[in-house]
Amino acid sequence: MLARKSVAQVQRETETSQLKRTLGPWNLVFLGIGCIIGAGIFVRTGNAAALHAGPAVLISFLVAGVVCALAGLCYAELSSTLPVSGSAYTYSYTTIGEFAAWIMGALLLLEYGLAASVVAVGWSGYVVSLLADYGIVIPAEFTGPSGHALIRDGVPVLDATGHAVTTLFNLPAFVICAALAALLVVGVSESAKVNNIIVAIKMAVITAFIVIVGWYVIQHLDTLKANWEPFIPAATGQQGEFGWGGILRAASIVFFAYIGFEAVSTAGQEAKNPKRDMPIGIIGSLLVCTILYILVSIVMTLVVNYKMLNVPDPVAVAVDALGPQWAWFAKIIKAGAIIGLTSVVLVLMYGQTRIFYTMARDGLLPRVFATIHPRFKTPWVNTVLVGLITAAAAAFFDINTLGDMTSVGTLAAFGIVCLSVIWLRTTHPELPRGFRVPLYPVLPVLGIVACFALIFTVETRVLVFFAWYTIAAIVLYFVYGLRNSQLGKGQAPLEGPELPEFPEDAPDAR
Ligand code: ALA
Repeated sequence: MLARKSVAQVQRETETSQLKRTLGPWNLVFLGIGCIIGAGIFVRTGNAAALHAGPAVLISFLVAGVVCALAGLCYAELSSTLPVSGSAYTYSYTTIGEFAAWIMGALLLLEYGLAASVVAVGWSGYVVSLLADYGIVIPAEFTGPSGHALIRDGVPVLDATGHAVTTLFNLPAFVICAALAALLVVGVSESAKVNNIIVAIKMAVITAFIVIVGWYVIQHLDTLKANWEPFIPAATGQQGEFGWGGILRAASIVFFAYIGFEAVSTAGQEAKNPKRDMPIGIIGSLLVCTILYILVSIVMTLVVNYKMLNVPDPVAVAVDALGPQWAWFAKIIKAGAIIGLTSVVLVLMYGQTRIFYTMARDGLLPRVFATIHPRFKTPWVNTVLVGLITAAAAAFFDINTLGDMTSVGTLAAFGIVCLSVIWLRTTHPELPRGFRVPLYPVLPVLGIVACFALIFTVETRVLVFFAWYTIAAIVLYFVYGLRNSQLGKGQAPLEGPELPEFPEDAPDAR
């Protein structure tokens, strides 16, 4: 259980990739932003403000940003100490050992696999809304999770017999997951240039939103009184509904909006000057996104009352409040969100297939997960499976439940990353470290405490799911992982090609 991969071994495994050191600090910041901005800001902010924090959702963004910064510093230290290009799974395997790596693999399935479903549901909301603008209406029964009452303009929709109409499944969300999995199987992945263009589109859409809606708000300062009083709505007495409890509950929701910054740490081998640039990339992308998120939440909750924001496309609803003359801008926002969210689903699914692939080569998952397609040279079985899991979750579950599960899994993974830093400093103080977490051990310990504190703000049913999920993962380790581990058998990982970094032509084009 405590068997560890040596640093030299992990280096040998990755040395075939021969990545060039071409990324400067700005490339890294851009890489981070590309993975960060997605359904969190475009969709989940609305629910967090409407049901939990009100205008004070901006405090929630600050809290979640600080938690991510603590974990981000720990990622920066690990990525500058262990010169491996990999995820938190590899960090755990090289520090705490195989059991922690296995648990990390299970948590990353929530962080990447389920997050892809969340973003796909967000994508669906904006697609349904944009199509409706052009008179194309997807039957409402096929636009939401199973068994949820259909609400239109705030009231339940009734059928001819007076019964409430319930949704069957989310067809667009299913289709986008299946289509992107098919693309990944045939090996069509995003090039770095396309990635940069998409990041620019996302930033442009969000900046335009802040400027245009912000300008409107400045001219209508009465919105301050109408929508920001009270700034922190009084707690209702229900757990996590407004007041300070609601702000913390909303922090665990908007935490989702920051997931993805750790993608920067996977580029450790490509950074020109990792010692200086990795922390700049991680903390810089977090800082840029925190500022954007806070500005978006300020103008959004000023221009419409927070109670109106529990919708699939809150950013567009905020623009609608400017009046019909701005309808064209709402359409641009929706189109920009759709393009941006597509790329986030693709990146998350890609990340998930890579984690499964590495685990299968280590013997911790069945060999078939590492099967490479003879023609397309992609791990196709694994990709099809990831496509099916994400598509089914996106089709049948609601975005809030899925999002909470993702947040809980990711917070636990971040907690383990903070622990890995302490573990490595204690067991291998001699290793040269490009970057050291300042104020050690205070910040890593604070990171662990903060991650676990946020976990306990989510709904009890999500915590119960998480407890069962973790127990199932532990049982599976003893039934399968422990017995089949290549490391446990004293053997090297299974042969297999190194899969390209994402985006595919990253080193040169960036
Ligand atoms: N942070 C990413 C998003 O908000 C996962 O979509």
